[in-house]
Amino acid sequence: MKPCPKLSDSIVVEVIFTVLLLGLQGVRVAKGLDCLEYPAISCRKHSAVLTDFGGVGDGKTSNTKAFQYAISNLSHYSSDGGALLVVPPGKWLTGSFNLTNHFTLFLHNEATILASQDESEWPTVKVLPSYGRGRDAPDGRFSSLIFGTNLTDVVITGYHGTIDGQGSYWWDKFHKDELKLTRPYMIEVMFSNQIQISNLTLINSPSWFVHPIYSSDIIIQGLTILAPVDSPNTDGINPDSCTNTRIEDCYIVSGDDCIAIKSGWDEYGIKFGMPSQHIIIRRLECVSPDSAMIALGSEMSGGIQDVRAEDLTAINTQSAVRIKTAVGRGAYVRDIFVKGMNLNTMKYVFWMTGSYGSHPDPGFDPKALPNITGINYRDVFADNVTYSARLEGIANDPFTGICISNVTIHSGEKKLQWNCTDIEGVTSNVYPKPCELLPEKEELIECPYPDDKVPIESVQLKTCSLKSLSFF
Ligand SMILES: *[C@@H]1O[C@H](CO)[C@@H](O)[C@H](O)[C@H]1NC(C)=O
Ligand SMILES: *[C@@H]1O[C@H](CO)[C@@H](O)[C@H](O)[C@H]1NC(C)=O
Ligand SMILES: *[C@@H]1O[C@H](CO)[C@@H](O)[C@H](O)[C@H]1NC(C)=O
Ligand SMILES: *[C@@H]1O[C@H](CO)[C@@H](O)[C@H](O)[C@H]1NC(C)=O
Ligand SMILES: *[C@@H]1O[C@H](CO)[C@@H](O)[C@H](O)[C@H]1NC(C)=O
Ligand SMILES: *[C@@H]1O[C@H](CO)[C@@H](O)[C@H](O)[C@H]1NC(C)=O
Ligand SMILES: *[C@@H]1O[C@H](CO)[C@@H](O)[C@H](O)[C@H]1NC(C)=O
Ligand SMILES: *[C@@H]1O[C@H](CO)[C@@H](O)[C@H](O)[C@H]1NC(C)=O
Repeated sequence: MKPCPKLSDSIVVEVIFTVLLLGLQGVRVAKGLDCLEYPAISCRKHSAVLTDFGGVGDGKTSNTKAFQYAISNLSHYSSDGGALLVVPPGKWLTGSFNLTNHFTLFLHNEATILASQDESEWPTVKVLPSYGRGRDAPDGRFSSLIFGTNLTDVVITGYHGTIDGQGSYWWDKFHKDELKLTRPYMIEVMFSNQIQISNLTLINSPSWFVHPIYSSDIIIQGLTILAPVDSPNTDGINPDSCTNTRIEDCYIVSGDDCIAIKSGWDEYGIKFGMPSQHIIIRRLECVSPDSAMIALGSEMSGGIQDVRAEDLTAINTQSAVRIKTAVGRGAYVRDIFVKGMNLNTMKYVFWMTGSYGSHPDPGFDPKALPNITGINYRDVFADNVTYSARLEGIANDPFTGICISNVTIHSGEKKLQWNCTDIEGVTSNVYPKPCELLPEKEELIECPYPDDKVPIESVQLKTCSLKSLSFF
């Protein structure tokens, strides 16, 4: 492919928008302007547009068949350089559809995918093996809006096009306790590798927004995720039993944790035994008044290890980083490194909860104690905080190896700033003065943060060009 002519992105987008409008009236594309660049893990040899497959972007017509037909057609190219499907300007109502291998879904900046509120547009799928039951209801669950399983090399990107989950329908059913199956997620990829989800605006998911599970080599970049701060379980990004995951430059406003790293639930998660590991999160901005900026758990029964997070900003959250676990979860949360947090307005900066409860069923093993160890936080500034920390381990199963350094917290008048039970660790240069279970080191120390990189950090995106816009 020849490179695109040198035009600024905004001009290219303008021109393409015009071309698209003209294109819809059957006018051919002007020469020399038929090109758009975007970064991706892989470029594609073939491309097509949703309207080639009967798509109608009026916000009313169902495009479920058009998406399914388009992607099943383009799957024929997976062994011949792969294919890209353009979602052009318009509002594209659809139910759930499945992705394919070596495939890119590309949303134009004026494109909105609208999730259908008609339940017959959502096939049901089995519960997740590491969870044993659905989270809203014990039986099956609705397939996610955009779903993929057993795939390799999948990209969902665009010039900040929008996916609107139209979640209010599902939130109402949740509040009225009328759900017979677990709500759909917005994007879920399962048993897959080489996944990129970038440059999109995601709004109002029925439940979690982005859920990679049992997958590896995942890049999530430049997402704006927005849901009302009181909407139920609208977690932003939940890597679940995933290895090698890089999440960067995301802005998230939601009704639940902005990012929650998970790995299965009690006896089901222990049996499945697939950890979340080698995860880097950087340059995250989060607003979520009743939840955490980053949560580890509460479902962590496959283990969580080697998580690194840096350059984090929270504006009005309940906590910054929260570890949630319980007796019965088993496994571990270990080697967690957090560096550089700028925080404003929250209840607890540091929060660990060993008594989260919330079991899938009474069959959990009361002897399955989680091992929480090697938790490192440094370089934190926080303003307008109620309590500095609430660190609650488990009796006879203390959380160990906690290290906190270079922290300044401006908090209110509450007396018990550091409320600690069943934990062990050290602190250095921390204000206000920590609890006795976290004694201050005599010499100044910096809590560790690894020098090496997790493998997904060295993956470079290619510059791909999307040409031959005559198909618009
Ligand atoms: C579907 O794919 C085949 C090639 O496998 C192609 O010949 C055909 O035109 C495609 N159909 C549409 C509607 O694009
Ligand atoms: C998507 O794939 C899943 C799992 O293979 C299947 O159960 C579901 O019916 C598929 N959905 C569609 C719309 O084909
Ligand atoms: C997907 O991969 C998993 C794990 O390797 C396997 O158990 C399952 O059977 C596969 N599913 C399909 C539809 O190939
Ligand atoms: C995201 O889109 C912007 C234009 O809005 C572009 O400059 C940037 O390279 C894109 N990044 C990714 C990761 O797609
Ligand atoms: C400080 O936090 C309280 C909640 O504890 C909030 O109501 C108030 O608006 C915050 N003030 C500022 C200046 O952000
Ligand atoms: C917890 O894990 C650490 C690190 O892997 C290990 O050294 C320690 O013995 C474990 N503790 C228990 C109680 O198993
Ligand atoms: C301490 O943390 C602040 C951020 O709150 C950072 O700017 C500063 O460089 C850190 N100091 C050291 C010695 O690392
Ligand atoms: C301190 O933490 C314990 C255990 O989490 C809790 O029961 C207690 O209410 C807390 N005390 C205060 C004053 O918040």
